[in-house]
Amino acid sequence: MENEGILTADKLLVEARLDALLPRKDRLTEAMRYSLLAGGKRLRPTLVLEFCRACGGEASQALDAACAIEMLHTSSLIHDDLPAMDDDELRRGKPTNHVVYGEWLALLAGDALQAEAYAAILRSGLSAPVRAEAARILAEAAGWRGICGGQFLDLDGEDRRLSEEEINALNDGKTASLIAAACMMGCVCADSWDKLPAADACGRAMGVAFQLRDDLLDVESSTPELGKPVGSDEKNGKSTLLSLRGADYCREMVRVRTEEAVGILRKEFGAPGFLIWLTEQLAGRKN
Ligand code: IPE
Ligand code: IPE
Ligand code: MG
Ligand code: MG
Ligand code: MG
Repeated sequence: MENEGILTADKLLVEARLDALLPRKDRLTEAMRYSLLAGGKRLRPTLVLEFCRACGGEASQALDAACAIEMLHTSSLIHDDLPAMDDDELRRGKPTNHVVYGEWLALLAGDALQAEAYAAILRSGLSAPVRAEAARILAEAAGWRGICGGQFLDLDGEDRRLSEEEINALNDGKTASLIAAACMMGCVCADSWDKLPAADACGRAMGVAFQLRDDLLDVESSTPELGKPVGSDEKNGKSTLLSLRGADYCREMVRVRTEEAVGILRKEFGAPGFLIWLTEQLAGRKN
């Protein structure tokens, strides 16, 4: 199958499973499903499936872990959009969760999606040691070492001029941690524990490039194309590498970190064609 076909097939597989994992019950599950099934690129679950494959496993054995990471990612987006955080009203081309359901329900939907992510891993058919390791990886990426730590630096840094070092730490925490976790969870699902350090390094490079591209798009894209509001970073007085060093430098860093990730894929993972293609695509993505 060619690369676009693999991307679509993985996305469909994940979306069908997400739908099955989260039944409709009441307004809380409706709010959870609203954001979870609203589309999105499904990058992180695709990485779980494809790192599993690159390590010699079957994508199907990693499917619940892939869905778990998408649940956790979606919970972080619901919270990121809240008035207390970035205060944005559009996500994945639709009104944000709190705009539709109100703030308290959006908070609960995010919390419940986070909890459900761990439940999906721990209920899966993976072996007990693999389940435990996948849950550990996800927990470390979600908490103070990862998303929460990065989001803390992001919000605490509003209306201040952060240094390049501080901005790098912020991007690594809020975005690269979860992307690295996706790569590592894929390896663990294939029982390739020895690949964890390489997957971590690859995902971190890919993840920082991903956030730098996100910051560029926030300035250079349009709201309809992005499916979320452009100009959000300036509105909130965010310190980004783009605001500190300019677009050319930012683009150069996207290139450098993308090359680094591709180098690791070639050296440590047998040069998987799809993952190399995907990593390069992300560097020039339009949404
Ligand atoms: C948005 O992530 C948040 C960032 C880390 C920049 P994505 O760009 O992967 O959002 P979706 O999942 O495609 O909506
Ligand atoms: C990433 O940063 C946020 C998360 C970790 C959820 P942004 O605040 O730039 O993400 P977008 O642009 O709102 O998707
Ligand atoms: Mg944010
Ligand atoms: Mg935001
Ligand atoms: Mg952004």
